[in-house]
Amino acid sequence: MKTIRRREFLGAAAAGGAALMMGAKSPALNLVPHYAFSAPQAADARIEILLNEKIGQISPDIYGHFVEHLGGVVYDGIWVGEDSKVPNVGGIRKELIDHMRRIKASVVRWPGGCFADSYNWHDGVGPRKDRPRRTNFWVDNRGNRASQAYANLNTGPQKYEPNWFGTNEFVRFCKLTGMKPYIAANLRSLPAKDFYEWIEYCNAPAGETTLSGARAAAGDREPFNVEFWGIGNESWGCGGRFTAEEYSTEFRRFIAWAPRYGVNLKYIAAGPNGGDINWTRGFFNSMVAKGANQLNSVYGWALHYYANTTGAGNALEYTTDEWYELIARSDRMESLIEQHWAVMGESDPQHRVKLIVDEWGAWHNQHPSLPAGYLFGYPGTLRDALIAGLTLDTFNRHADKVVMANVAQLINTIHSLFIAYEDKFVATPNFHVFEMYAAHQGGQAVRTLFSAPTLSFKRAAPNPPPQAMAQMSPQQRARMQAEAQATPTLWGLQGSASLNEKTLTLTVVNPHATEARETEIAVRGARVQSGQATTLTAKDIHAHNNFEDPRALTPSNSTVQAQSGAVAYRFPAASVTRLQLSLA
Ligand code: AHR
Repeated sequence: MKTIRRREFLGAAAAGGAALMMGAKSPALNLVPHYAFSAPQAADARIEILLNEKIGQISPDIYGHFVEHLGGVVYDGIWVGEDSKVPNVGGIRKELIDHMRRIKASVVRWPGGCFADSYNWHDGVGPRKDRPRRTNFWVDNRGNRASQAYANLNTGPQKYEPNWFGTNEFVRFCKLTGMKPYIAANLRSLPAKDFYEWIEYCNAPAGETTLSGARAAAGDREPFNVEFWGIGNESWGCGGRFTAEEYSTEFRRFIAWAPRYGVNLKYIAAGPNGGDINWTRGFFNSMVAKGANQLNSVYGWALHYYANTTGAGNALEYTTDEWYELIARSDRMESLIEQHWAVMGESDPQHRVKLIVDEWGAWHNQHPSLPAGYLFGYPGTLRDALIAGLTLDTFNRHADKVVMANVAQLINTIHSLFIAYEDKFVATPNFHVFEMYAAHQGGQAVRTLFSAPTLSFKRAAPNPPPQAMAQMSPQQRARMQAEAQATPTLWGLQGSASLNEKTLTLTVVNPHATEARETEIAVRGARVQSGQATTLTAKDIHAHNNFEDPRALTPSNSTVQAQSGAVAYRFPAASVTRLQLSLA
């Protein structure tokens, strides 16, 4: 573990600060600081918040969620049933509802994921006792991640979908939690007609059609007015293995006629897997080849990106290097947004289509501390919390490009905010980050500069399965070896800032496993009067909550003192911090 020596950094930071004051970085800067900065001796980092450099309004939908019929997400994460001994509201776990309200959850995507392209929505409506039992998409081994987990599926709802939680239950869940529904339609295995009928079931006035009558008969007379509709999911893979051009044709066919019932339908197209620029370019080129206005009907282009665990570690056990590596992998989100945005701009220079990241998170192997049927389930640690913080910060910094994001997934799988089993319910460290970051929703994102000593780490030796190794070309093998030998680096502090009237919210991640960062915080264009800090950290980088100790890792609050309009703050090692600063 090597860091830049403090003296070297202070020299560099001082030079950087002088350049900034002289206007070398941007003519838009307010060149005369409103404060006299009394730099604390020990400061080795600096944050400058440029109030006059507005990025865009942070869409509350960036703080969105994702629910798939996979493992323990729906059954028994969300749906426990009306007769359950687990406290519930109409069959939906009450503790989950209460927690979702705390984080001002804005939108939720459902029913998948890969499941969406195998789901027939007709199966999930009507009297619950009459609904058919179907085979769940995830019944078989569909990949090499935690493949053993599939073998452990019992014959319960994780394997055979009972359709107890369908459209009405989903929309009731949305209403109870204050979230907007985002429905992913089945493009691979149902005709477009079923998509139109689903819109009709959701949005047509009661009494006007048979389908809207069926909705009303189920107890929901008022139309659901669902705005967000995904056209398939991962259509390059589980969603149909289309080429980008084929998908563009299917997308246009699906949306060519859809009844609106007065609702402004917002279509979301299935975007790329991580850095697959060709998928983005292929879709956009193909859309405009059909006609310049074709992109008008695309609200969002949905990127998926997961940071996968590397090395021998798992969700709860990892080395310090593996801690850094996964954080660095997650940080790839920034370049993905920039790269895809640039390619989208080639065919859509006015950027009518915005980015949506409707699946993101850190993906580890399933952990044995959760039931075997909970595919990809694990409790999540402080490491996941830092990843949540830095990813949400990335979205805030790109508030002009990203209009929605949905963490994968809400409960009991992958980067979840909660784990639940029967009557046990635990908020993971990710939940606490979402609660802290809710203050950004609707705020004006402003450009913020971070300087702190960069850190470097050793990459875990690549360990691909022998079959994968055998299939690699000599070039791929050489690239893998070169990557393994390189010394990767990671920024020392990163974050985002947003303004809401006179309150500035600054969120900051310090990834250093052992070193705190003494930081000078300056707000260009205003004076800080006072502030409050909320910090999520622990001495042990593996800290997490579980059924035995549900409050092992929770945030703590403190008061921030301002001096001459600025703030000196010590960001603890391995922490996510929110500062709320009152400005004059
Ligand atoms: O979130 C789990 C799965 O990951 C989703 O079903 C799929 O879209 C992605 O590959």
